[in-house]
Amino acid sequence: MAGGPTIDFVPGRRDSPVCPREGRLPDAKQGVPYLRYIFYKMGLTNKEIVALSGGHTLGMAHPDRSGFQGPFTREPHIFNNSYFIELLKGETEGLLKLPTDKALLDDPEFRRYVELYAKV
Ligand code: HEM
Repeated sequence: MAGGPTIDFVPGRRDSPVCPREGRLPDAKQGVPYLRYIFYKMGLTNKEIVALSGGHTLGMAHPDRSGFQGPFTREPHIFNNSYFIELLKGETEGLLKLPTDKALLDDPEFRRYVELYAKV
């Protein structure tokens, strides 16, 4: 529906029959060390942390939920690499960049993948 690749998958989790409790989303006000702390313990690599952050190509933030507001990209219902392109532009009027998004530019190991994904 969002124009991305078709990938066969079965939604849901095999490891738990119950939903995790609410309020466990990562803290969007943090920076590079926090991103590593959160995602390394899940076994993710730098490349995977950057690729997953690209999930923000879709959707938007809501003041009543997170306190942040707005879409991350100009076409928030289309799955493409625009998250990375917009991130590299710096401040862009009308678009949201969380501190954890901007942090991907601060670290050379993260930034090289932002630059790579902005090109493909
Ligand atoms: C670095 C870790 C992350 C942080 C701190 C973070 C934080 C946030 C915040 C604050 C929002 C706005 C929520 C709201 O106000 O409604 C949001 C939205 C969203 N995030 Fe993340 N996120 C992270 C990683 C991810 C990942 C890994 C994915 C998926 C691969 C993802 C997908 C989304 C999507 C699709 C939305 C839009 C939701 C909507 O439209 O209602 N995020 N994220």
